[in-house]
Amino acid sequence: METALANEYRRLCDDSAIHQPLAYLRLRRAIRNVIEHRDIEPGQTLPSERDLSRVLNLSRVTIRKAIAGLVEEGLLTQRHGAGTFVAERIVKPMSRLTSFTEDLRARGLHPRSEFSERGIGEVTPEEAMALNLSPGSLVVRLHRVRYAEDEPLAIERSVVPASVLPDPMLVHDSLYEALEKFGCRPRRALQRLRAVSLGAQQARLLHVATGSAGLNIERRGFLDDGRVVEFTSSWYRGDIYDFVAELQTD
Ligand code: GLP
Repeated sequence: METALANEYRRLCDDSAIHQPLAYLRLRRAIRNVIEHRDIEPGQTLPSERDLSRVLNLSRVTIRKAIAGLVEEGLLTQRHGAGTFVAERIVKPMSRLTSFTEDLRARGLHPRSEFSERGIGEVTPEEAMALNLSPGSLVVRLHRVRYAEDEPLAIERSVVPASVLPDPMLVHDSLYEALEKFGCRPRRALQRLRAVSLGAQQARLLHVATGSAGLNIERRGFLDDGRVVEFTSSWYRGDIYDFVAELQTD
């Protein structure tokens, strides 16, 4: 691991296409890359600050700064006296508007989806309220079970105005990648989180026992001009996900 990280860090230093003069940001990127490439697995320990400082010839302040950012992002966790680890649970910062696909790829996991619905139809009254649409408008509906490799992590029902995404078949694995192509990826979002116990059908899809703890998240995603581009309800397995929010006083 130490060697993989040192090689990656040196590669970034030598790569003239990467204009990153700040050592701590370069190191942060190198750590992110080795996690993504699975040179270090979830649960494994990162080399100590002292070892990294020696091998990379960087100050301990630089190492600490690089690591702190990744702890904040949820990729690394720290246990007092035990060191720094690659996070095992999926720790998702609430302040970043990222997609399921991006969250998993950043952890070196392979995201995939199984669709139970991928169609187009007239908006229901509830969807019209959530998306600010007029009755009769067309929407694309996606119902998916979302997996990391073969492990189901979440069930998602997304509704998107057909005016921004004309064809549901354009969504392969990632909704946000499809929206991006139309310049309609959400720029901000409002989310509501609720603790739930998973019903029989949800539990079956997520391979957990009926009544297991889950998190229901509703997200409305907006464009800069205020248009709502997605209304998604997700049911995440409570045993795998941690949602973390940073709070600040005014
Ligand atoms: C998360 C959000 C959803 C969003 C999805 C997009 O799961 N909770 O609201 O629709 O990401 O992910 P992807 O682009 O992988 O489909």
